[in-house]
Amino acid sequence: MRNLISIDDLTNEEIEEIFSLADASDKLRADRPASGEIMATLFYEPSTRTRLSFESAMQRLGGSVISCSDMKASSTAKGETVADTAKVVSSYADVLVVRHNWDGTVLAMAEHANVPVINAGDGSHEHPTQTLCDLYTLRKEKGELKGLNVVLCGDLKNGRTIHSLVYALARFGANVVTLAANGMALPQYVIERLEREYDYALAPVASDDLNAVVTETDALYLTPKQPHELALYTQVDQVIQARLNTMATGLRYDAFYMTRKQKERMKEGTTDTSYPTIGPNFLREQRFQDTVVMHPLPRVDELSPEVDGDRRGIYFKQAAYGVPVRMALLKFLFDRRAEKRKPSRHAIPYQSPEPIGPQCRNPNCVTVREPISSRRRFEIVSSGQANALILACAYCDHRFKVQIGGNVQSKKYYVFDSALASTFRDWLKKDELALFDSIKEAEELDYEPFKSGPHRVLMTESDIHTALANMSGQILHDCRELSRLLILGVRGAGSQLARRLAKEIVQQANHNPEVGEIEIYGSGDELKRLLPDAREAEPLNLKDREVILVDDVIFTGRTVKSALSIIFRSARPQSVRLAVLIDRGHREIPVKPNYVGKHIPSSESDRVRVKLSELEPGERDQVIIYTIMNPSEEARRTARNSEFTAK
Ligand code: NCD
Repeated sequence: MRNLISIDDLTNEEIEEIFSLADASDKLRADRPASGEIMATLFYEPSTRTRLSFESAMQRLGGSVISCSDMKASSTAKGETVADTAKVVSSYADVLVVRHNWDGTVLAMAEHANVPVINAGDGSHEHPTQTLCDLYTLRKEKGELKGLNVVLCGDLKNGRTIHSLVYALARFGANVVTLAANGMALPQYVIERLEREYDYALAPVASDDLNAVVTETDALYLTPKQPHELALYTQVDQVIQARLNTMATGLRYDAFYMTRKQKERMKEGTTDTSYPTIGPNFLREQRFQDTVVMHPLPRVDELSPEVDGDRRGIYFKQAAYGVPVRMALLKFLFDRRAEKRKPSRHAIPYQSPEPIGPQCRNPNCVTVREPISSRRRFEIVSSGQANALILACAYCDHRFKVQIGGNVQSKKYYVFDSALASTFRDWLKKDELALFDSIKEAEELDYEPFKSGPHRVLMTESDIHTALANMSGQILHDCRELSRLLILGVRGAGSQLARRLAKEIVQQANHNPEVGEIEIYGSGDELKRLLPDAREAEPLNLKDREVILVDDVIFTGRTVKSALSIIFRSARPQSVRLAVLIDRGHREIPVKPNYVGKHIPSSESDRVRVKLSELEPGERDQVIIYTIMNPSEEARRTARNSEFTAK
């Protein structure tokens, strides 16, 4: 059975096929191919266009529609799970069209239904049928999608129409400029998927190019990596500066895709930031003469009614195409009822063989909101970060890292390290890999730690203190304007070190710098203010700041690369410098730290750990090194060579 949950459930050829069917919607209307079929619409959130155009499309195909006018008046109000609702309603109808406020719910329902299920919007995750309408409209207006420059504008963080659209634009070879409201940038998981699957990279756009559209945040250009080599990370500030000044100026803008602020998905107190708008100024600008304006609607006040009468305002046409496009989609899915869903080509699926296992970090994911309706399923997207596996939730696509893994047979666990990647891969093949969110979880299931080689102390408490004092001195020496200084720690040891550096700076310069935290694989807000706490409600603003990015150890450079991508996506800082306590000197990505506590050239099989008393109560501050014993060889070696058993 074919469902439409994500825009990636359709290939480019299939999308073209749907468009051809939509072009001939008059014929579909005459042929009535859905005669005798029933569509059920289950909308747990408000809707005008999506619901009515689906219902109209089904009736025009000769089919009929059943519906709950208000899901709050359905058994949901009595506590029925989405799984049960899906099971029941799929015995009344031949296709389900579902909108829900939790991310991933429509996939969970599809797993329990035995008729095709269509996602009409799930939380802030995806809205693939809106994307079909958007692409259809764009193609009608501009001819071809390849090479178009499309500006996505507004709430790119919570807008589900944006997420489906950006993948589709990348797949058809369009370029994307993002113009997000402050604090509403495209989520990192979306950016990384664009990078990994479509080889798209980011570059800043010259700000005066877009000054007719008021915005707090800088624009970014997403484009296939070639011919630009748009590395955002670099060795010297001047190089960053030069790149920022010259990148992507004078672009041709083919379309502006405006979106509403998704207030219903925001925490209270975070909705009052300024927001880009399209109005008379935009219409007057010479460079936007051929730029069409689109909007999934409803609009609030980001798009002025003055644009309605202009030839460039095509959003009502876009809404009208909803009917022929959805007629085409329904016909397409009915014809493919017997087909199996093709597995995605990138996925390494993971499901824990143990009853306890990793949990998605997105609090709005269906696996968190209603665990009983879903199975915790993931994709392993990378084992490349120095000491973590990155999992993506199969339902909501959010990424997070897992550090503890064990073997179900031997009941031993290990803290993940890149040296263990191939061992973990073998276990995964044999379905023996148990991943855990914490050591506590592993121990609850009676897993024991693997043994490691002998520890050697590389830095003592006082070495660490001296190193941080020296680094602060150098930071102060290089800082051009103290008031712009922002110390930004990578969540974990990095943010603790950032606090300590800030303390040193207070002592040395009698200045209290702002301290923030960056979370690379978390849910929701990647950038957070740590100090001062007072202005917590405001998003951390990186524009024109002198940012010092702080982490404990630099090894492959990937963490730094991800951090830089988050930073540049949020705003354009004046400079970014990198401070690390330990440089292991084994880089896959050319980033060079500006401030280093100690250089420790080490081999890949070594583990270097920075222990900090704030994170490990009862422990002293120190840096230790030890070797990894390959757990599958551990037993053999222990028998042969007693040296390795030393604690
Ligand atoms: C959108 C949605 O529901 O995501 N509306 C729609 O389907 N056309 C956009 C929105 O609500 O802002």
